[in-house]
Amino acid sequence: MAGRFYITTAIDYVNATPHIGHAYEKVLADVLARYHRLAGEAVFFLTGTDEHGQNIANAAAQAGEDVQAFVDRNAAAFQQLCRDLNLSHDDFIRTTDRRRHWPAVQEIWRRVAAAGDLYRKHYRALYCVQCEAFVTLSELVDGRCPRHLTEPQVVEEENYFFRLSRYRERLRRLLEERPDFVVPESRWAEMLQLVDSLEDVSVSRPVEKLAWGIPVPDDPGHVVYVWFDALTNYVSAIGFGRDEERFRAWWPAHHLIGKDINRFHSLLWPAMLFSAGLEPPRQVLVHGFLTLEGQKISKTLGNVVDPMAVARELAQRSAAEVDVCVDAVRYFLLREVPFGQDGDFSRAQLVARFNADLANDYGNLLNRTLPLVERYFEGRLPEPGPEEGGDRELREQAVGTVDAVWECVQRCDFQRALLSIWQLLGAANRYLDREAPWNLHRAGRRDRAGTVLTNTLEALRVATVLLEPVLPTATLKVWSQLGYPEFEERARELRARGEPYRGTGLGLDDARRWRWLRPGTRVRPGPPIFPRVEEERPLQVQEAVADEALSLEEFRRLDLRVGRVVEARRIPNTDKLIEVRVDLGREVRTIVTGLVPHYQPDDLVGKTIVVVANLQPRKVRGVESRGMLLAAEWDGQLALVTLDRELPPGARVS
Ligand code: ME8
Ligand code: MG
Repeated sequence: MAGRFYITTAIDYVNATPHIGHAYEKVLADVLARYHRLAGEAVFFLTGTDEHGQNIANAAAQAGEDVQAFVDRNAAAFQQLCRDLNLSHDDFIRTTDRRRHWPAVQEIWRRVAAAGDLYRKHYRALYCVQCEAFVTLSELVDGRCPRHLTEPQVVEEENYFFRLSRYRERLRRLLEERPDFVVPESRWAEMLQLVDSLEDVSVSRPVEKLAWGIPVPDDPGHVVYVWFDALTNYVSAIGFGRDEERFRAWWPAHHLIGKDINRFHSLLWPAMLFSAGLEPPRQVLVHGFLTLEGQKISKTLGNVVDPMAVARELAQRSAAEVDVCVDAVRYFLLREVPFGQDGDFSRAQLVARFNADLANDYGNLLNRTLPLVERYFEGRLPEPGPEEGGDRELREQAVGTVDAVWECVQRCDFQRALLSIWQLLGAANRYLDREAPWNLHRAGRRDRAGTVLTNTLEALRVATVLLEPVLPTATLKVWSQLGYPEFEERARELRARGEPYRGTGLGLDDARRWRWLRPGTRVRPGPPIFPRVEEERPLQVQEAVADEALSLEEFRRLDLRVGRVVEARRIPNTDKLIEVRVDLGREVRTIVTGLVPHYQPDDLVGKTIVVVANLQPRKVRGVESRGMLLAAEWDGQLALVTLDRELPPGARVS
């Protein structure tokens, strides 16, 4: 039986409108959901909004709006974001949902009370309204919350407390027995450190201080603390307390969240579940924080851009469809930000990725091949002949990529998953160059030209199946051009009827099958799916060429050689440096180069490049570097100099 995968996002506070950080989390969850569907699993993908608490009550009061009207309006903005990002979520839960959510929260409360884990206590403490959490003096920096840079309030009241301290032992065991309970490992270690010092926490507010919340069962004087309320969404949405069978079918979940709310998910929530006699979550996946153009995203800085504004801006600059640009934003977030680490969202870098990866490597492969099918084979996919030349290698790489990608996705290593898809696209592009069907056709070898075109398109097709979770719209357009318009038509129909569209239904098994494309299928070459963004170039840069003339002798003193990169690794604790091992024919050289973020080590391995071989050696970070790779630079973009046809390492460049 295929597995089940229940994936959730954090539910967003509706005190403000969505920003790129929210979009990032939703895209990550969507990509996970879609890959698990691709693997044939039954998937339930939940997202939603967190609508109670002090912060929201304050924001509504500030806006001079009725709280319910205020949260309705902002929740709608988050629902719109889900549609805009083409999320494939199965449900959207709101904590103001009195039918589905409230009874579940009250049921958990009753169970926790019955377990003897609630008691009343009068106390006085500091509360950060933005965190919606009590903070201790030792956590403050200059008297302010280090996350929100705001001063906490002094709160003095009688509340219900949850005996969190009682669960230290069980939580520690949970963490120790399941080293993958929290991913990445550094976040797991952080939780393990906190576990022994856990204290009981307040889980209610008196109504006279805060009325905007879920009433505590049998005590009209209190509402449930917003985190106790919010965390319960993960079980309320799937029927806890209403539909036991459905709840059992999906629980436990994989929770995808940001690093700032790890302890609520990895400690408080499992303790609540233990107390209520329920299983803890399956896994907590913790992503990092995004900055925007290098700056922290905050209302006070006024840089809270609507993620869709970025996609629309890209659409204007490239003439691509907005939904394709949404795909580009999705791709960028996964490709650029290693899971678990912080990252930056920069428009220049988005454009660079759009041009290099999507327009050139992926889109252009389609645009290079389909016109040849059109010209040589009356627009019908040719019947492939027997394997020869580089055919087998390409096939094996394509099939191997399927497992590599799935394996990476299960570790949330989206960056590496995409790198291996791009290695396949690179291999397909090189295969096409090498096998040169245009020459074969000219030489009268029409059948062989057909085989080469089919193989290239098969590799592209495998990549397209694997890219659907990341590029749900663009891949539909690729399918249409390949002669399979039914997928795009179906998606359009469903959308027109307002029904959810969750993908083509193709799976990893389809990806693994070589010779999947039907010979005779009528291809439909169309306009580029990712039209390049052409920058307006400042002219003065071009004048900097050729100031001082060199003599031929002077030039010849440079020993330039063809090299092949055989190994590459990042030099730890540096921003840019990669140590490469380059095969120069007679020797393998170590060269240190500053190519990050333009290239990652995996991009380099296998590349044929040009090396300045007679530079004096120098020590960089303890590594002796002998030589230099040639690269071109333009407007912050970097491109390595490579050869336009294969020559052996060591060949002289002049
Ligand atoms: O914390 N980069 O809601 P929220 C990446 N309601 N992720 C970011 C981010 C950024 N700059 N800013 C926020 C809440 N996030 C609670 C959750 S769950 C039961 C209750 C992430 O709107 C953040 O880490 O402040 C969280 O995972 C999500 O966005 C919602 O944040
Ligand atoms: Mg927050």
